[in-house]
Amino acid sequence: SQPLKVAAIPGDGIGKEVMPEGLRVVRAAAKRFNIDIQFEPIDWASCDYYEKTGQMMPDDWKDQLSPMDAVFFGAVGWPAKVPDHISLWGSLLKFRREFDQYINLRPVRLFDGVPCPLAGRKAGDIDYLVVRENTEGEYTNLGGIMYAGTDREIVIQESVYSRFGADRVLKYAFELANARNRKHLTVATKSNGIAISMPWWDGRADAVGRDYPAVTVDKQHIDILSARFVLQPGRFDVVVASNLFGDILSDLGPATTGTIGLAPSANLNPERKFPSLFEPVHGSAPDIYGQGIANPIAMIWSGALMLDFLGHRDAHDAILQAIETVLKQGPHTPDLGGQATTEALGRAIEQLVLAPQA
Ligand code: NAD
Ligand code: IPM
Ligand code: MN
Repeated sequence: SQPLKVAAIPGDGIGKEVMPEGLRVVRAAAKRFNIDIQFEPIDWASCDYYEKTGQMMPDDWKDQLSPMDAVFFGAVGWPAKVPDHISLWGSLLKFRREFDQYINLRPVRLFDGVPCPLAGRKAGDIDYLVVRENTEGEYTNLGGIMYAGTDREIVIQESVYSRFGADRVLKYAFELANARNRKHLTVATKSNGIAISMPWWDGRADAVGRDYPAVTVDKQHIDILSARFVLQPGRFDVVVASNLFGDILSDLGPATTGTIGLAPSANLNPERKFPSLFEPVHGSAPDIYGQGIANPIAMIWSGALMLDFLGHRDAHDAILQAIETVLKQGPHTPDLGGQATTEALGRAIEQLVLAPQA
């Protein structure tokens, strides 16, 4: 069979530090499970490339990436060089839209050995999936500034929700919930204050949910939902949210499990018409870049999600098991109170993938 082809895009900042560790561990899993996988290193979709060329990506970026089975992505953004909205709308947000990666799947889990910032929680108490709508909603460039520069300045930015776009992410979330033990879906809403789109979103959840009678549904306004992520995380199984709400929840959730340095994500085009993209939830972390102390686990776990999506559940499980072992026994990076380097973590996980402990 043909080798799997994966574009490896480190991007900026710690994206460049965690990518080698992600590749190291994915390669180890590929070796152990006999997976033929080829990586195509790509230096664009970075602020360095922007400095050289005046754009984030070459004009033929889509032709270059379309034949790939997946994109493995670090992080983009270096606000000291390029304004964030330029670098992100010029790269990551383009991928999500033009490759129709309408699902952003973001698992949240508390692991054994990781100090939990919430009192009295242990491994297993926090274990849910955030399903974030990834192509529309609050993320638009529809709008403008009127009377700019005067004291009458007015800014309008539209949010856009389509029935097609809402229904497909809701359906995905219901399917996911239906396949899990607890069969519980939380729908993030704000139908009290955002009085047009959010009551409509609730209505779409009701309509889509009719096909899933076994799934229990809990609609929660995003404000109290955020509080419950902290106070009652055990309530959650699958959480579906609009683009911005999902963005916020997927930093908050991982923060309650000790560090955002663990949180992975899968930007999926479930129909496989276009490549899907796998990346940490976190960004380029300019504040720690260059020290070699970034936690590579978010990148490595994203690699596991990629292998799973590409049909290699066994490789995914082996990586997850190695991550569990390292979190339990150490070493740990400084975000978890340890002193280990990014590379030391990558090597420890690689060893466990190649030769798992009995
Ligand atoms: P960030 O996620 O980069 O960093 C937030 C904080 O978390 C920082 O203190 C950082 O040191 C810490 N942190 C992040 N990842 C870590 C890791 N793996 N190990 C240890 N600590 C880690 O968020 P930010 O500061 O808001 O953004 C920085 C830049 O990254 C901006 O340009 C932003 O737009 C961009 N960004 C990109 C992505 C992406 O590419 N998917 C995601 C978020 C932010
Ligand atoms: C994420 C990031 C991006 C988002 C930014 C960098 C545009 O925060 O992937 O969560 O808001 O989607
Ligand atoms: Mn985010």
